[in-house]
Amino acid sequence: MLPGCLVWVAAAAMGLALFGCAGPGTKSTTQIEYQPDMYVQASVRPFGTDHVDPKLPAMRTPPAHTVPINYTPFPQPSDVTGVDSIVDPLPVTPAVLAKGRQLFDNYCIVCHGALANGLGYIVPHMTQPPPLILGAPLQFSDGRIFTIVTEGQGNMPPYRSLLDPAQRWAIIHYVRVLQLAANPSPSDMARAESEGMNFSHDLPPAEGPNGPIPGAEAIPRPGVNGIPH
Ligand code: HEC
Repeated sequence: MLPGCLVWVAAAAMGLALFGCAGPGTKSTTQIEYQPDMYVQASVRPFGTDHVDPKLPAMRTPPAHTVPINYTPFPQPSDVTGVDSIVDPLPVTPAVLAKGRQLFDNYCIVCHGALANGLGYIVPHMTQPPPLILGAPLQFSDGRIFTIVTEGQGNMPPYRSLLDPAQRWAIIHYVRVLQLAANPSPSDMARAESEGMNFSHDLPPAEGPNGPIPGAEAIPRPGVNGIPH
């Protein structure tokens, strides 16, 4: 039988052999992954691509009115009476618009795109967000957009804890600017032309990586929708 102290030395040596000689690396990197199956698994990652068609995002648009099991949906803006009567309390000043632009470009651009045309950087990893510059959002009241940003809607997360109310209202004024810029009236276009401006290259594309952008046919283009060339 080995003397007691030798047993301890042998045990310590074994411990060193197992855990002490991990080789080059940093304290924050794992050398040996014990049972990596929890990490490397067949399930799809939230912003990964589809296993069958890598051109498609793993995330899909849930069917309309989908509610997770055991979840009570909060009222959507369209159900909340009175929401449409809330008016953006901030004045439209260059400073407010500049702040709105800065916040939009920090918080919303990633999904909705710089022009709010639904072509953010996250596409095609995420489902195509709707454009905010055509179709239904043109008719949305300030209060409705405020509530969507505050509570979230469908795949869009809530911004209640990230943006204070004044920041949300500043963003809404800026969204209105983007809507106006994308939907110039014939007189706006005529004025721009008389001043030698050409915005035609700024118009959003009709097709996104996930296919046609919803409602893209409504995008004003010179020669259609009464917009002069
Ligand atoms: C993570 C991606 C993401 C971000 C960031 C995001 N949105 Fe959205 N947004 C979406 C998606 C997806 C929808 C469609 C939701 C649905 O299923 O109705 C949406 C819908 C909307 C709608 C309603 C459009 C409609 O036709 O019903 C508005 C308005 C809107 N977003 C504004 C904003 C604003 C303003 C911000 C920044 C504060 C923002 N979003 C940030 C993904 C995003």
